[in-house]
Amino acid sequence: MKFIAFNVREDEEKYFAQWEKETGNEVLRLPDMLDMSSVKKIEGFDGVLALQTGTYPDEMFTEFKKFGVKVFSIRNVGVDNINLEAAKKNGVVVTNVPAYSPNAIAEFSVTQLMQLLRNTTIFRNKVAKQDFRWAPYVGKELRSLTVGVVGTGRIGRAAIDIYRGFGAKVIAYDLYPNPELKKQGIYVDSYDELFSQADVITLHMPATPNDYHLISTENLNKMKDGSYIINTARGALVDTKALITALKSGKLAGAALDTYENESDIFNHDLSNQEIKDETFKELLSLDNVLVTPHVAFYTETAVKNMVLIALNSAKSVCEDGTASTVVK
Ligand code: COI
Repeated sequence: MKFIAFNVREDEEKYFAQWEKETGNEVLRLPDMLDMSSVKKIEGFDGVLALQTGTYPDEMFTEFKKFGVKVFSIRNVGVDNINLEAAKKNGVVVTNVPAYSPNAIAEFSVTQLMQLLRNTTIFRNKVAKQDFRWAPYVGKELRSLTVGVVGTGRIGRAAIDIYRGFGAKVIAYDLYPNPELKKQGIYVDSYDELFSQADVITLHMPATPNDYHLISTENLNKMKDGSYIINTARGALVDTKALITALKSGKLAGAALDTYENESDIFNHDLSNQEIKDETFKELLSLDNVLVTPHVAFYTETAVKNMVLIALNSAKSVCEDGTASTVVK
């Protein structure tokens, strides 16, 4: 079988090569994004692999049908950028990688919070200027805080374990509570309860139209003064302008954002010699109580390996058996 993979990075190369050797199948690897100008390259292949947070237009799946390609395997978990109906209508089976490494994302989100709590960016900047004084940047310890986890799927649960290890009090909200966690009494009954009780809100949920701008001015006002927001989930969950206002007023003490609502033209691009045109994003970067990272919470050796191998096995399985355990329904 012959597959074509888009957005392939150097660090993924060895896993593609390993899989080709082990299975005897071929994979053409391209650095290009999959979009309406590159989609014609899929002609003649049995399946397509891609990884990106940008949107795939519905017409892309008409092209899949035209070229007789029946499987689209994404090397990541989120499918909020794919119209599954459009794929289905064109006979395309979509697979994802539901659990490449929940720990990778959970560990990163905790790391970012710890940096905010101990003012590490501020101290790094001060030390660079040879200012070695301490005050007034006294830190906070996790065991003195209540962490509110939104979303208790695999990533949220991994985060809960880590926070408990640090001695934090953890509360959680999920529309679909996990039975094991429910027995432990970790859940509150509403967002309002979570927002009013937590010192830290950490987001570990997919983006759905219902949760668009969950972190809004209205909800920020329900939070404790001096609280923290951690978003390693999806940019669309946070109203960035409202967040900036809350950070500037002191309502929020800090935020760590590994996703941004308009990230697709910014993250994973080298813009070092260009002016960033997005004024909201520029303002975010200028704040010293914000940590911005370019959607790298997932980016560990374990995760990258699993993303490549699981996506390839899914594509192969759909071609051979018409389905895979990772088919997105
Ligand atoms: C995901 O797996 O959905 C992520 O957010 C990772 C990203 C590289 C697309």
